Amino acid sequence: MRALVTGGAGFIGGHIARDLLKRGYEVFVVDNLRTGDIRNLKGIKNFFNLDVGKDDLSQVFKNNYDVIYHFAGQSSVEISYSDPIYDLDTNTRSTLKILKHVSESNYKCHIIFASSMSVYGGDGSMPKNETSPLSGKNFYAIGKRASEAYLKSYSSSNLNVTSLRLFNIYGPGQNLKNLSQGMLSIYLAQAIEGKNIIVKGSLDRSRDFVHIFDVLRFLKKIENNQKLFNKEINICSGKEVKVSEIIELISNLLNKKLIIIEKEGTSGDIKRMLGCTKLLEELTGIKTEINLEEGIKSMIESLKNENYFS
Ligand SMILES: NC(=O)c1ccc[n+]([C@@H]2O[C@H](COP(=O)([O-])OP(=O)(O)OC[C@H]3O[C@@H](n4cnc5c(N)ncnc54)[C@H](O)[C@@H]3O)[C@@H](O)[C@H]2O)c1
Repeated sequence: MRALVTGGAGFIGGHIARDLLKRGYEVFVVDNLRTGDIRNLKGIKNFFNLDVGKDDLSQVFKNNYDVIYHFAGQSSVEISYSDPIYDLDTNTRSTLKILKHVSESNYKCHIIFASSMSVYGGDGSMPKNETSPLSGKNFYAIGKRASEAYLKSYSSSNLNVTSLRLFNIYGPGQNLKNLSQGMLSIYLAQAIEGKNIIVKGSLDRSRDFVHIFDVLRFLKKIENNQKLFNKEINICSGKEVKVSEIIELISNLLNKKLIIIEKEGTSGDIKRMLGCTKLLEELTGIKTEINLEEGIKSMIESLKNENYFS
């Protein structure tokens, strides 16, 4: 079996690529290394250093792939406003290009796309399930919604698609140097470095967190699963956690008193977010296993092993 992972040098894509390798796949990665790290490609022999949105991808698609994980993308709402054309190229045009290549080659393939809970927007009733209205209005959400729609339009008997509405994914391997993406990782980085915790927006905002190892367990059940073809599915834990609670957990686990500085929120940011796990649990037959406290603890342990604290 052969797999392509776009964004395979990134946090989530890197975990997926290494997991596929362990499972015996021949793995190909394409990544422009904008936020990714070459060290995430350990063991991956087939690497294309290309931009999925802008570069010609013919060499990548000389091969047929049984599964394509399309995880190249930028995940910052802030950047989607400061550089909307880059956001469009990287999060939407890239999807369209991949679909065009695969559909023209006409081989059987399952494309699994990294969409986002942002498509729901933060208004209306919670928890969000897959039939909740898509009212996400920030540029990042618009791009992800467009990609989901392109995937649905291209789907055929050979080209099967699944859009994963990822909630807040966290865990070891998250880039703590990148302070423009990843809520929990930003607070953790500031706490470890002994800095004040800068919170952009209210401490009452909430999110639904899923550990990366739980994501990998779900993906094994989603890959080539006919019940999930041509569907959107939440990847969430069904637990709502406030920003103030995350910071308190980090403070307790690091045994450090943290000073919080509240700043004005980012435009387009969501106030509340909670996902419904019903469809995910029904179609995969499994549930999340790692609670937030254990998850942050394991992240801190792995940072200690990397000597991040010294
Ligand atoms: N982390 C989360 O909580 C979360 C939540 C919802 C959706 N997502 C989506 O999941 C995907 C992966 O997120 P992540 O957290 O691993 O981020 P990440 O920044 O660690 O990984 C993204 C990877 O894609 C690469 N990349 C970006 N633009 C590219 C382009 N145009 N061409 C080729 N490579 C490119 C980057 O270099 C990086 O290696 C993104 O599409 C993101 O929008 C993530």
